Amino acid sequence: MSDTFEPTNIIVTGGCGFIGSNFVHHVVNNHPGTHVTVLDKLTYAGNPENIAGLPEDRVELVVGDVCDEALLDRLVPGHDAIVHFAAESHNDNSIADPEPFVRTNVYGTYRLLEACRKFDVRCHHVSTDEVYGDLALDDPARFTEETPYRPSSPYSSTKASSDMLVRAWHRTYGVRATISNCSNNYGPYQHVEKFIPRQVTNVLCGTRPKLYGDGRNVRDWIHTEDHSSAVWAVLTRGRVGETYLIGADGERSNIDVLRAILTAMGRPEDAFDWVRDRPGHDRRYAIDPTKLRTELGWRPRHTDFAEGLAATIEWYRENEAWWRPAKEATEAKYAAQGQ
Ligand code: NAD
Ligand code: DAU
Repeated sequence: MSDTFEPTNIIVTGGCGFIGSNFVHHVVNNHPGTHVTVLDKLTYAGNPENIAGLPEDRVELVVGDVCDEALLDRLVPGHDAIVHFAAESHNDNSIADPEPFVRTNVYGTYRLLEACRKFDVRCHHVSTDEVYGDLALDDPARFTEETPYRPSSPYSSTKASSDMLVRAWHRTYGVRATISNCSNNYGPYQHVEKFIPRQVTNVLCGTRPKLYGDGRNVRDWIHTEDHSSAVWAVLTRGRVGETYLIGADGERSNIDVLRAILTAMGRPEDAFDWVRDRPGHDRRYAIDPTKLRTELGWRPRHTDFAEGLAATIEWYRENEAWWRPAKEATEAKYAAQGQ
């Protein structure tokens, strides 16, 4: 049996990022009894536009750092849960400079857990399937909640560390925490550094998309709206102390995704460049979401990847003002890395 928990006043860290902002919209649109305080540092990945226009009586933005103990001491009391999305999230950045990843993902999670302990506030920690390392292309297995941790990159090792802190703070101090580990998200408002938005905006700019390595790496794609509904399900109906894997049976190779983008945008399937591979590049991720489906009854809504991709491409076509300011600097960074 799951516990039921009806939060009325939550903090969403990283609520101006890609997935956190989607979750804020999800709460505002579907759960009228819940007020959201967004805590976001507004790094290069955070954009207040992502939550602009939401009712002021439902959402408040506090610009600040999850590592700031004094701020958390002022902010956390009076809230009944923290949903923790804030992180440095991009693998390539973590390879170029791991320090912000250690700081925000490890120390920042530690600070939040200490605040949850001090003020007896529930915590849902948003994590990634990358903590499990990778699978071979021909391995029939998928990740489950029992798969041993084996992270590969500086990013995934800091996420794995943060998961370990959450587990320890639950067991040792009784912090009421849950964890979810999700696969690759796609949808509107994703930063142009990530695979799908990078390639879509490259085509829109008249630049050739860039594919790493041999292009056969597999990612397990889920629409960000389905990630949000799953996080709400775990927060409100998940058992304290438990981990839930979130996935929507969306395994696809990078080259297949890229060809689908090129075709949908009216370009030849081979109109892209092969570029230097990512060091330590994980081969395949795959989620077995059985526990989430059977225990919490969660189901994804976006089950047609071609349809979700087409809508995402359309969103980038129509929202150039949103992505254009970040595009040039992002590509300059990639070019300097030979990617
Ligand atoms: P993102 O990079 O788009 O957004 C991160 C947000 O966190 C930004 O708004 C940023 O300003 C904020 N932030 C960063 N450091 C902060 C700090 N020190 N204090 C306060 N705010 C800070 O990330 P995303 O893709 O939306 O990912 C959100 C979470 O979901 C991350 O924890 C990530 O590990 C996890 N996740 C992402 C995916 C994916 O496919 N993108 C999949 C599974 C899990
Ligand atoms: O699995 C969940 C993870 O998914 C999240 O924890 C991360 O926050 C999120 O960034 C994502 O990590 P990936 O490294 O899988 O995503 P990325 O979009 O960077 O790359 C997806 C795949 O595409 C990966 O195999 C690398 C490849 N790639 C990426 C870029 C940016 C390319 O071939 N070319 C590119 O230009």
